[in-house]
Amino acid sequence: MVEPPPLRTLILGGTTEASALARLLAGDARFAPILSFAGRTLAPVPPPIPHRLGGFGGAAGLAAYLRAERLAALVDATHPFAVRISANAEAAAGATGIPRLVLRRPGWTAIPGDDWRRVDTVAEAAETLGADPRRVFLTIGRQDLLPFRAAPQHSYLLRSVDPPDPALVPPRATAIAARGPFSEAAERALMAGHAIELVVTKNSGGDDAKLRAARALGLPVIIVDRPPMPSGETVADAPAALAWLLAHHAAADPRGV
Ligand SMILES: NC(=O)c1ccc[n+]([C@@H]2O[C@H](COP(=O)([O-])OP(=O)(O)OC[C@H]3O[C@@H](n4cnc5c(N)ncnc54)[C@H](OP(=O)(O)O)[C@@H]3O)[C@@H](O)[C@H]2O)c1
Repeated sequence: MVEPPPLRTLILGGTTEASALARLLAGDARFAPILSFAGRTLAPVPPPIPHRLGGFGGAAGLAAYLRAERLAALVDATHPFAVRISANAEAAAGATGIPRLVLRRPGWTAIPGDDWRRVDTVAEAAETLGADPRRVFLTIGRQDLLPFRAAPQHSYLLRSVDPPDPALVPPRATAIAARGPFSEAAERALMAGHAIELVVTKNSGGDDAKLRAARALGLPVIIVDRPPMPSGETVADAPAALAWLLAHHAAADPRGV
C-alpha cells in the first residue's frame, strides 16, 4: 500500500495546547507541520517543529497563505479570548475548503465554596472592584490592563510573561514577569505575601493553581467569561487533535493531489 504524503498542517498557536500538539507531531513523517505565533511574546520557547511569527493580514491574507503553502489542514489552537484570529481562521478555511479543527481547552467552573463574580468584559471586571481601595491580583495578561487605569484607587499586583507597557499600567502597581505553570503553594504564598484581597482573571481554563490558592485563602475571584466559541469541529486536548489529523492523513490521496 502506498503511504499518503505528509499532511501539510498549519497550527495557529500561542497556547499550551498548540505547543503540546507540536511536540506530538515533531519527528512524525506523516506530518509536515508549521506552528504560527502572533509574535507578542518577546522570547517564545522555540518549538520542536518549524514555526513562523506575525499576522497574515486578516482572513484574506490567511487564505492566501494557506494556498501558497499548499496546506491541507488547519488547527486553530489559539487562546479562547483571541477572537479575531479564530474568526479569520473560520473564514479562510471556508474560502479555501481546507479542513479546520478548533483545539480549545475547557473553561473553569466554580465549585461549592468558591466566591466567583462573573463578568463579560475586562472593563466590567475593573468596575466590579468597587469604590473602596482593594489589593488586587491581576492575572489577565499585559494587553488588557488599560481599563484598570480608570480604577486607580486600588493597588495591583500584575503578573504577565513579559513586562507590561508602562503606558497601560495603573498607578499603584507592582509588576512581576513570570511564565507558568505555578504550584498552588507558590500561588498561595504570593497572594498572602502581597496581602491580596481579590483576584481578577479571564476564564482561560487549563492550570488552575491560582483558583485553588484563592479558594484556600477564601478570596473572591472576578472572572471574565469567555467570548462565544468558534463554530465547527472542536476538541479539548492535543491527543484528540492528533487523532483528527491522523484521520485526515489516512484519507489523503497517496498521489498527493
Ligand atoms: N487574548 C488572550 O488573552 C491571550 C492569552 C494568551 C495567549 N494569547 C495568544 O496570543 C496571540 C494574540 O492574541 P490576541 O488576543 O491579540 O489575538 P486576536 O485579537 O484574535 O488577533 C489579533 C491579530 O493578531 C494576529 N494573530 C493572532 N494570533 C495569531 C497567530 N497564532 N499567528 C499569526 N497571527 C496571529 C492576527 O493578525 P492578522 O489579522 O494580520 O493575521 C490577528 O488578526 C494569539 O496567538 C493567542 O493564542 C492570547
